[in-house]
Amino acid sequence: MDSISALFSSPEEEQYVLDCMAYFMILMAACTFVCLLFVNAAYGRYSSSKYGFLINVKLAWFIQELPAFLVPVYLLVWTSSRKTSLLANQLLIAMFLCHYTQRTFIYPFLIREGKPTPFLSFFLAVIFCAYNGFMQIRYLSHYAEYPADWVTNPCFIAGSLLWLCGWLINLHSDHILRNLRGPGESGYKIPRGGMFEYVSAANYFGEITEWTGFALAGQSVHSAAFAIFTTVVLSSRAFAHHKWYLAKFEDYPKTRKALLPFVV
Ligand SMILES: NC(=O)c1ccc[n+]([C@@H]2O[C@H](COP(=O)([O-])OP(=O)(O)OC[C@H]3O[C@@H](n4cnc5c(N)ncnc54)[C@H](OP(=O)(O)O)[C@@H]3O)[C@@H](O)[C@H]2O)c1
Repeated sequence: MDSISALFSSPEEEQYVLDCMAYFMILMAACTFVCLLFVNAAYGRYSSSKYGFLINVKLAWFIQELPAFLVPVYLLVWTSSRKTSLLANQLLIAMFLCHYTQRTFIYPFLIREGKPTPFLSFFLAVIFCAYNGFMQIRYLSHYAEYPADWVTNPCFIAGSLLWLCGWLINLHSDHILRNLRGPGESGYKIPRGGMFEYVSAANYFGEITEWTGFALAGQSVHSAAFAIFTTVVLSSRAFAHHKWYLAKFEDYPKTRKALLPFVV
């Protein structure tokens, strides 16, 4: 028994708590959906000191994403990880860690002249990353049980491929955005190339695809909750960005959609 299991009277009780955490995340996604009808998530181009003191953007991204890396590493290294010898569990954990290694240790330091992040947005991101990092990896390392041949199941294969395509689109699109700015420039330009030819929020399209694939491969309420939360937050921001581009640039490509190529 490890230090976390000791907090519960039985493994069933801990698994029940993890399930409740996932349902609570879905409830929070619904609340966030309603809030985002009235305000834009306050960071980046919508940053405002109304939401607390402003933090340097690189520092904010590094610290806020760090729990999504450190909590899983703690769970995998210092607690008894009963299910980590299973291939499906290993691959799903690898997807999560792969994303958050890049997001924590590489992405923040590549940002060019990003707007500072207000404390409230930073604080909510820290909480989300710690909560989600714990929920995903505790479930995958301790409780998730897949059939022995799950990695050859079409759902797992399709989900993993979606995850990979989504991740690559997200990385490529973030790369395009950051290269719109030369040294010392902090303004905005029309992004071109890659999935930006089809949508204004190509990086969000990639990220939503990524976690939808993860949910398809993982088939759990925990992975589904993460995909739902990501979709709610990023789709609202995608529509806000699209509207913002249309208002700012007269020559903005007319056929470009907001989030889903050819659809919306
Ligand atoms: N899983 C989740 O729930 C979740 C939530 C949020 C973000 N994310 C991910 O985190 C990453 C960053 O998200 P974000 O919301 O900060 O993305 P964003 O608003 O698209 O901004 C990304 C970076 O590019 C700059 N930028 C954006 N559009 C630009 C333009 N037209 N011209 C020049 N520079 C531009 C921004 O600068 P400014 O700061 O100056 O605007 C910022 O540094 C994305 O990959 C996203 O998918 C994930």
